[in-house]
Amino acid sequence: MKERAQAIRRQFDGDLAAAASPAALADLRLRYLGRRAGLLTQILKELREVPDSERGAAGRAVNELKTHIETGLATAEEVALRSTAGESDRPAGIDPTLPGLVWRPGSLHPITQVRHLVEEIFLEMGYTLGAGPEVESDAYNFEALNFPPDHPARDTQDTFFVEGSDLLLRTHTSPVQIHTLETSHPPIKMAAIGRVFRRDSDLTHSPVFHQVEGLVVGPGITFAHLKGTLERFCGRIFERTVGVRLRPSYFPFVEPGAEYDISCLFCGGGGCRPCKGSGFIEMGGAGMVHPAVFEQVNRRLGETRYDSESLSGFAFGLGIERIAMLKHGIDDIRLFYENDLRFLSQFPA
Ligand code: DAH
Repeated sequence: MKERAQAIRRQFDGDLAAAASPAALADLRLRYLGRRAGLLTQILKELREVPDSERGAAGRAVNELKTHIETGLATAEEVALRSTAGESDRPAGIDPTLPGLVWRPGSLHPITQVRHLVEEIFLEMGYTLGAGPEVESDAYNFEALNFPPDHPARDTQDTFFVEGSDLLLRTHTSPVQIHTLETSHPPIKMAAIGRVFRRDSDLTHSPVFHQVEGLVVGPGITFAHLKGTLERFCGRIFERTVGVRLRPSYFPFVEPGAEYDISCLFCGGGGCRPCKGSGFIEMGGAGMVHPAVFEQVNRRLGETRYDSESLSGFAFGLGIERIAMLKHGIDDIRLFYENDLRFLSQFPA
């Protein structure tokens, strides 16, 4: 009897190893555990005929065989069930053949990166950072900056007006000069970065863009300080030594007023396509603070805080987008505002 049990066990182990599918396992279950003709059922019946003296040992052998077959089948069936559900040993729904998800770290917008660089340079040079509202009054955007009412210089600014009020969207960061003069005392070294708005839209002009404004006021400030500051500032921005050229120009709030250029970043001054053969690239406007601006502020304050006999100052402005375009060789300003990741992801860090 014991030998019979062992023989069946070996046979079962072989059959089980060969059973590859749930159907084959179902066949096995029937062959071994089937009520009528199962091999185990038969051997259990045969047990009745075993003489009393041997029945104990035989019974144990048959019981062991029964447990072996039942657990062997149950385990194999469970494994087969899981793999047909597409699971095997993995959690449901995971397909390891799919390409993995790549989590790309984000980065700051190229305009924000330039803003941060500009702020860093000004802080390094000992400037404080100033700010003003984006919705301005005519008084700050024009009047106090010596744009008289009806003066044609206002037309150059393509202003967005707020209907039914004397408010407007600031057309430049120069009104921050007035806010700063009103809230500080000389000497002053202030830089401001912010959004400005103009009715203008093409490859190099956007209705919303950013400007930087610099203002220095104190005794003995000269045009030479302005030029040295521009050379230092532009050199740091573009990470090289640049020459600065000042050309006479008109802005109502400065006298003398100038536009300033830097030696071409691409050819160094010899003349090339980006600088249109001139060897220079336009950067922005600058000049010595007009005494009329100091007077306007004194009038608004009701005190002579700025005496243009003993104080002078310089101011300058430029566009942040323009810096970013020159730094990265971008020729369409609209790319900054379209939120196209194919463009934006080219500026990591
Ligand atoms: N605010 C002027 C503009 O937007 C630029 C400018 C010119 C700023 C001369 C200045 C300056 O500070 O002195 O066109």
